[in-house]
Amino acid sequence: MRLCHLSELPEGEARGFDPLHSGQHSLLLVRQGARVHAWRDACPHHGTPLAWRQHAYLNAARDRIVCAAHGALFEIDTGLCTLGPCLGEHLQAMPITVHPSGEVHLADDTFQETPA
Ligand code: FES
Repeated sequence: MRLCHLSELPEGEARGFDPLHSGQHSLLLVRQGARVHAWRDACPHHGTPLAWRQHAYLNAARDRIVCAAHGALFEIDTGLCTLGPCLGEHLQAMPITVHPSGEVHLADDTFQETPA
């Protein structure tokens, strides 16, 4: 299923998506140059959404994903928690494909295999 086009995802920025139309974002994308990282919008600590407001996934330095609940920090490219109560745990990677056209798609069966 289509999420967005790269042109809608500015360099160094994060954006949440609600492909299930559930009313809350279930995954986030972070763009780093030509690379796009996709993570489930759920903290490994308590499973809660990461952002304190829409699309606010990154820390002030823009070099980590942050969980608003208890301040856990995660590496953008690996999802590894480097600080906080879930230290050493990982965000769940989401299976995306970036097509040569710039379209970013999520595997259609993603949420059948990993229910929310
Ligand atoms: S729920 Fe994310 S750090 Fe506690």
